[in-house]
Amino acid sequence: MENIIVSRHTDGVMQITLNRPKALNALSKGLLAEVARVLDEATADDAVRCVVLTGDERAFSAGADIKEMSDGGIPMFAEAGRLKSWKTIERFAKPLIAAVNGYALGGGCELILRCDIVVAGEGACFGTPEIKIAAFPGDGGTQRLPRSVGKARAMMMVLTGEFIDAETARDWGLVVEVVPSERTIERALEIAGIIAEHSPIAVRMAKAEVLMAFEKPLDESLSLERQMLLWQTEDHDEGIAAFIEKRKPRYTGR
Ligand code: CAA
Repeated sequence: MENIIVSRHTDGVMQITLNRPKALNALSKGLLAEVARVLDEATADDAVRCVVLTGDERAFSAGADIKEMSDGGIPMFAEAGRLKSWKTIERFAKPLIAAVNGYALGGGCELILRCDIVVAGEGACFGTPEIKIAAFPGDGGTQRLPRSVGKARAMMMVLTGEFIDAETARDWGLVVEVVPSERTIERALEIAGIIAEHSPIAVRMAKAEVLMAFEKPLDESLSLERQMLLWQTEDHDEGIAAFIEKRKPRYTGR
């Protein structure tokens, strides 16, 4: 891999570190394709329970690679390889946690909007500055940002291109916790470790159900939630047995 570093932690947590420091981890086609490929591998690997996505101290990611935008005749937003990579990230069924230090801008901000939980270091900043280059957050940002922070705040970010700091991002609901910058990855790994102990099938179902709240009308999602509730699993039986027997559950993912 040229643009990312993949590491495994003993507790079922995979860490993907974006690694284009000279370009502030800009999301080139190559980088996005590598992230997508590793997530495909993580999907197929039962040992991976949760993935932490991070960058470096200066940038989580400064967004789409602006220098690639002038390549070729096809508009960047419509390029098939990029769209496929974004789809893979979006459809990843296991929990995806972002650990953000530095800039999370443009596509970098859209990437965290696809993550399930976002932890930020004190110095992190977030923004959708595309308007400054006569563009807009076209990798899902115009739709996901208002769902995350509300219409007025999304309009403020998208139309001015101004950045918000980590505390504001937390107050607006984009980020769940702000920690000292040197603790960002550690904290994200801690959260991932807690999730990795739970039944993988229950975790996948829970993630899918929460996402339905943003994707489907309420009557439809409530009815789907009810159907999933009736979907008994061996892990559920094991969870109940372990509670009654006062022991740690041994989940198999069935
Ligand atoms: N794409 C490609 N290269 C980028 C980049 C990007 N998004 N952001 C930064 N870089 C490169 C710079 O060109 C520079 O490279 P060189 O040293 O070769 O010149 C290097 O990273 C360091 O950047 P700066 O010197 O600009 O660093 P700075 O500290 O002065 O400024 C910054 C930091 C405010 C983040 C500034 O780099 C910046 O404004 N970057 C662009 C942010 C942006 O507009 N993002 C949105 C991209 S569009 C998008 O994402 C579209 C979409 O949704 C689909």
